[in-house]
Amino acid sequence: MDDLSQQAVPLILNLLRQWLPAEAAVASVLATSELSIFPEESQLVLSSVAHRQTEFAAGRVAAHRCLEQIDYPRQPLLRDDFGGPVWPVGVTGSITHESGVAISIAARVSTVQKLGIDLLDTRRDFSFRELAPIYLSQQEMEKFGTLAERDLQALFCMKESLVKIFSSHVKRYMDLKEIVITIENDSFLGQMVGVDMTGKGRWKHVPPFIVAMASFDLESHKLSTGERQGQDNCGNQQRQGADESA
Ligand SMILES: CC(C)(COP(=O)(O)OP(=O)(O)OC[C@H]1O[C@@H](n2cnc3c(N)ncnc32)[C@H](O)[C@@H]1OP(=O)(O)O)[C@@H](O)C(=O)NCCC(=O)NCCS
Repeated sequence: MDDLSQQAVPLILNLLRQWLPAEAAVASVLATSELSIFPEESQLVLSSVAHRQTEFAAGRVAAHRCLEQIDYPRQPLLRDDFGGPVWPVGVTGSITHESGVAISIAARVSTVQKLGIDLLDTRRDFSFRELAPIYLSQQEMEKFGTLAERDLQALFCMKESLVKIFSSHVKRYMDLKEIVITIENDSFLGQMVGVDMTGKGRWKHVPPFIVAMASFDLESHKLSTGERQGQDNCGNQQRQGADESA
C-alpha cells in the first residue's frame, strides 16, 4: 500500500466515526497474506485468485473486529445470494476493500437498520465519464452527465454504498441505474425506483480515495414519509393539521 493511501486510512476511519452513531463500530485491516479467517469463510473464495483471497480475508477480519467492538463474538460471516456478508441476527454492517485496505462498519440494528460503505481509489485508469451510461439513468445523464470526472467517481461511489443497503431488502440483482441520487454538498439521499426505502449518506474525497457511507434508519424513514407525524410524502402536514396550524 502506498504512502498516500496509508495516510488516508486513519482520516477515513475518523470520518466514519463522526458519521456513524457512537455505538457503531469501525475497523480497517491491511490486505496482507497472513490474515486468519474461519475455514467456512475461506471456503467461499477457495477457487479465487490469491489477490481476491487476501482482500476477502482483510474484509472479514475487519468485520470480525467490528463485531467484537459491539460485543458480539467473532464468528464466520458467510455470503448471501447477492454477494453481501451475512451478519448475525441483530447486526447490520458492510465491507469494502480497495488498493490494499479493507474497511468494515457495523452496528446493532437497534441503533441503525442498514449500513453500506464504499471506498474508491480515484487513480483508476478508466474514465467514469465514458462508463456513465452504465451507472446513470437517462435522466441522470442529463442532470449529471457534464460533471467533472472526480464528481462522477463520487456519484458512482455513493451508488455502490447504496446498493449495499438496498440489496438485502430487494433480494434481487440491482442495476445502479435504478438508484436515484440527490446530492447536497457532502450528504446524499438515494431512492431505489419502485422501492419505498430511502437511504441517506455522507461522502468525502480523502485523496487518493473517495469514501461513501449509506444508512437506512427506520425512524427517520417514518419521519420522512410522514408515517409517524401525519405527513405526506413531501413532508407536508396533512390537510387537517396544516389548517389547524395556519
Ligand atoms: C456489489 C457492489 C456494490 C460491490 O462493490 P465494489 O465497489 O465492487 O466492491 P467493494 O470492495 O466496495 O465491496 C465488496 C464487498 O461488498 C460486499 N457486497 C457485495 N455484494 C453485496 C451486496 N449485494 N449487498 C451488500 N454488500 C455486498 C461484500 O462484503 C464484498 O466483499 P467480499 O466479497 O470480500 O465479502 C458492486 O459490485 C456493484 O454495485 N455492482 C453492480 C450491481 C450489482 O452487481 N448488483 C448485484 C448485487 S444486487
